[in-house]
Amino acid sequence: MTDERPVIGIFGAGKVGTALARLLVTAGYDVALTGSPRQTALDLLVSVVAPGARVAEPRQLIDEADVIIVAVPFGKAETVPWESFDGKVVVDATNYWPPIDGTIAAIDDDPRSTSEIHAASNPRARVVKSLNHLGYHEMEDDSMPAGSPLRRALAVVGDDPDARALVARLIDDLGFDAVDGGPLANGRALEPGHPAFGRELSAAELAALMAAERVLVA
Ligand SMILES: NC(=O)c1ccc[n+]([C@@H]2O[C@H](COP(=O)([O-])OP(=O)(O)OC[C@H]3O[C@@H](n4cnc5c(N)ncnc54)[C@H](OP(=O)(O)O)[C@@H]3O)[C@@H](O)[C@H]2O)c1
Repeated sequence: MTDERPVIGIFGAGKVGTALARLLVTAGYDVALTGSPRQTALDLLVSVVAPGARVAEPRQLIDEADVIIVAVPFGKAETVPWESFDGKVVVDATNYWPPIDGTIAAIDDDPRSTSEIHAASNPRARVVKSLNHLGYHEMEDDSMPAGSPLRRALAVVGDDPDARALVARLIDDLGFDAVDGGPLANGRALEPGHPAFGRELSAAELAALMAAERVLVA
């Protein structure tokens, strides 16, 4: 940790990864990004679109990061080394989005939330779902200082309460109110097609919606 702030590692230097990197660097975090093998000039890209963030190889990123954000296309999530995430707080920001990812029958037929499916690949990772239910362009546009009356809320779900609390502090630093949504199974309420997805809600509104959805998804 730097100055008591967790070091952040982001898998995916696309729209979400770079938007989060910009916000986190502005908030004073040490941010490392790792990209796709197809991104051959990642140092240059990051220096332009997320100045202050650094590029790291996956192994270095995992070693250094206290919090790992997974921001890769859902269909590429299996290429992320979840098996190496022992003990790490991992924010799953991915969405199963058939227009982009195609229809995946195994996901459609699985009763678990998509983050539970990811978390099952490493039970020692402290997986939290968050940052997935707003558009990447809204991450900077809707960021506001704490106490702003119109501040937007983001939910945090996960089975490890300390991990949820850590990510809630991160969300506050990103410029949003955090709502504790309980266990990872409640992440379904944050997925595309569910009421919290893509909606600009206050903390009270989002908490009420999560409480109602929790019953439905239990
Ligand atoms: N776009 C939004 O507004 C939004 C908002 C919230 C959440 N999300 C979710 O967040 C995720 C990322 O969305 P995005 O819009 O940022 O997508 P994006 O712009 O396509 O960026 C994702 C990046 O991750 C790279 N990648 C793939 N596998 C990787 C790996 N193993 N390690 C490191 N990087 C890898 C991709 O490279 P390749 O092109 O080579 O695959 C791509 O450069 C998706 O699951 C999406 O559903 C999106």
